[in-house]
Amino acid sequence: MDSLRMALSGPRKKRPRQMDAPMASAPPDIKFRDLVLFILEKKMGATRRAFLMELARRKGFRIEDKLSDSVTHLVAENNSGSDVLEWLQVQNIKASSQLELLDVSWLIECMRAGRPVEMTGKHRLVVRRDCPDNPNPEPQKSPPLAVQKISQYACQRRTTLNNCNHRFTDAFEVLAENYEFRENEGTCLAFMRAASVLKSLPFTIVSMKDTEGIPCLGDKVKSIIEEIIEDGESAEVKAVLNDERYQSFKLFTSVFGVGLKTSEKWFRMGFRTLSKIRSDKTLKFTRMQKAGFLYYEDLVSCVTKAEAEAVGMLVKEAVWAFLPDAFVTVTGGFRRGKKIGHDVDFLITSPGSTEEEEQQLLPKVINLWEKMGLLLYYDLVESTFDKFKLPSRKVDALDHFQKCFLILKLHHQRVDGGKPSQQEGMPWKAIRVDLVVCPYERRAFALLGWTGSRQFERDLRRYATHERKMILDNHALYDKTKRTFLEAESEEEIFAHLGLDYIAPWERNA
Ligand code: CTP
Ligand code: MN
Ligand code: MN
Repeated sequence: MDSLRMALSGPRKKRPRQMDAPMASAPPDIKFRDLVLFILEKKMGATRRAFLMELARRKGFRIEDKLSDSVTHLVAENNSGSDVLEWLQVQNIKASSQLELLDVSWLIECMRAGRPVEMTGKHRLVVRRDCPDNPNPEPQKSPPLAVQKISQYACQRRTTLNNCNHRFTDAFEVLAENYEFRENEGTCLAFMRAASVLKSLPFTIVSMKDTEGIPCLGDKVKSIIEEIIEDGESAEVKAVLNDERYQSFKLFTSVFGVGLKTSEKWFRMGFRTLSKIRSDKTLKFTRMQKAGFLYYEDLVSCVTKAEAEAVGMLVKEAVWAFLPDAFVTVTGGFRRGKKIGHDVDFLITSPGSTEEEEQQLLPKVINLWEKMGLLLYYDLVESTFDKFKLPSRKVDALDHFQKCFLILKLHHQRVDGGKPSQQEGMPWKAIRVDLVVCPYERRAFALLGWTGSRQFERDLRRYATHERKMILDNHALYDKTKRTFLEAESEEEIFAHLGLDYIAPWERNA
């Protein structure tokens, strides 16, 4: 117990003599054979390390003197994840994705418990890349965690929802949005790329040294990181959050159907609140904006996963009533494992349908929902798809498939685990739904394009163009060198055509 107390109170002071004894005596029995530990001396010091090693061995842990392939857990003190990765790189050791990099606090808890305790986020120096929401984790597919060069392209990074750099990425997203509102596209993109790259990092940035070697971080971005590290906040972000124009644009664009142009107009006219706009008799609203105001409260409160699943049932029931062989796949944020979204996106495709049957599907579905009283708003966009056309070179081009933007009435009783308290008020909630129909042979491209994130898609296209002389969009992949279309039955095949490692949907949260 004495030794444990010392470990807890950080004994860099002299330890009892017998503790110092090397493992000359018979090694204690190893009780926990699944774990092989190595304790990093750097910043911990040789004395404390020797002490902890001895203590852990007495508790039945297997501790190696040297780092080897058999080590499963590396324990460090006063080192950030990037410090450890850097140390490993200097030693010329590739850390496999199986190697856990842990803070000494984990080892101390193990000592206290007398057995290995569960590793949680607070212990991990490097956040594992497999998403906890992922129903089929395949961590063995991920490349080693070793310090590989981080790519400037989001499609060469794995970005799960485990963002350990929120305090920086939140700040950058505010700034990006503000530059978007001010139509400064270049600066907006720079902040979006910076946020995106930080979201992919398996460690938290704690000092400027951690930013070395990370692409997409220009001087302006770095000075904000530095400010946040030193002062805990950025003056520019604070100013933006208090800026009247930013606040108004944020509020106005939260209405379905209101974009930058309308926001600009209302701001110039002196409007600052939605209630003033709503009740103004001189303003003309589009059909979309009218629906946006009518269902405002429901639409700003995000869609939950349970609601998304209930909408999925509605969509399948309606689609299958007309095309029983159709595949209905949820795309967008929910496919990437998000727990909430601003809408629910679906891709519909049917292997056995003619073009005509395909084209008739959405009108029939809409008609059915109308009769059921579920249709609150819809905008059907007819297909302009031409299978001979080359993919679009524009990174943000809209696709040509037939699609429908809707607001549906979702009854609470259709939602699994729906709150009974909601039953007292409205019996339903308005939900934004996007439906896309694509020809069966284009389903892999459509699925890849509609899964997002937007930043991931942009970088896929940028990568295809600049690194592969290919053009990718939501319909096709074209090889400019060979002058041929490259066909694909699955997303995996598209990544393979592009010479990219496959990135699973839950790793595309760039
Ligand atoms: N998309 C597209 N063409 C459109 C609209 C969207 O290709 N006209 C793609 C975008 O690439 C995006 C995906 O569809 O990544 C989903 O779009 P959206 O619903 O806006 O974003 P989500 O990522 O689903 O985010 P949220 O959870 O907020 O809905
Ligand atoms: Mn979505
Ligand atoms: Mn959408």
